[in-house]
Amino acid sequence: MAFINLQNVTYQYPLTKTPVLQNINLQVNEGEFVAVIGPNGAGKSTLCYALAGFVPHFFKGEISGSIEVAGVESSKSTLDEWVMNVGLAFQNPFNQISGAKYTVFEEIAFGLENSGVPREEMKARVEEAMKLTDISDLADRSPYSLSGGQQQRVALTSILVMQPKLLVLDEPTSQMDPIGTREVFSVVRKMAEGGMTVVMVEHKMEWIAQFADRVIALKDGQILLEGKPNEVLTSNILAENGFGVSRYTSTAREAKKQGLWRKENLPVTLDEAVEGFVKRDE
Ligand SMILES: Nc1ncnc2c1ncn2[C@@H]1O[C@H](COP(=O)(O)OP(=O)(O)OP(=O)(O)O)[C@@H](O)[C@H]1O
Ligand SMILES: [Mg+2]
Repeated sequence: MAFINLQNVTYQYPLTKTPVLQNINLQVNEGEFVAVIGPNGAGKSTLCYALAGFVPHFFKGEISGSIEVAGVESSKSTLDEWVMNVGLAFQNPFNQISGAKYTVFEEIAFGLENSGVPREEMKARVEEAMKLTDISDLADRSPYSLSGGQQQRVALTSILVMQPKLLVLDEPTSQMDPIGTREVFSVVRKMAEGGMTVVMVEHKMEWIAQFADRVIALKDGQILLEGKPNEVLTSNILAENGFGVSRYTSTAREAKKQGLWRKENLPVTLDEAVEGFVKRDE
């Protein structure tokens, strides 16, 4: 059975007139890395809230259908039970730093400390996690002295150190440069290979194409398309529906009209583009 199983999920925030999630059916296997894309207001964050249990437990509103993760049904759990039983961790752009700690090291150790992990083990796990996300050199800094991108890396590290079963990330690289972004994607990929299930909202098509197993394209609260990254990200349907499209895809789509792109699939990444373009005199 799928690790995540959403059946006919329709949800409406309190005091609003139309549902922001409409009849969502989604199954995700254990260890799968799924990227969620969509224009502003599509319902991406709301979908994350549904997985995180905030919808409906915190935001209330009207919900129908069923949300099940790891065999647990959301409507039958409290928010605390849900987070525990599902083994969930959620990072969104607004809850980056706890504010309770003076150093990055302590910030990352915070969750382990709260769950009573012995000091030595805690230290080893924090150091290992910091190595993974390449922030070891920030260990003694104050979380508040960091750039937005560094803070996002610290936030991700403090989640990974807890070894969640389900990781939900809402635009975790929004403030990061290309190097940070690449590292996040490759760390997340590695975690998925280790069995962690990942749902990640992202706009960066080139990285999604290289690292994700599957892409879900959301629009107006509905799943417009889903499938393999290259198929979804190069689809005309995306271009016609206000989704961001990789510059390599749009360039090759134009080039195809002039016979300069002869491969069956359009590219999403630079490498795919370089490989597929033909010289005019060929
Ligand atoms: N707490 C709330 N109460 C009422 N409506 C809300 C609430 N939060 C979001 N919405 C509405 O729900 C819809 C979906 O919002 P959501 O934040 O899920 O979209 P999104 O795809 O994450 O957009 P963005 O790309 O801007 O982050 C929007 O129309 C938004 O205005
Ligand atoms: Mg959002």
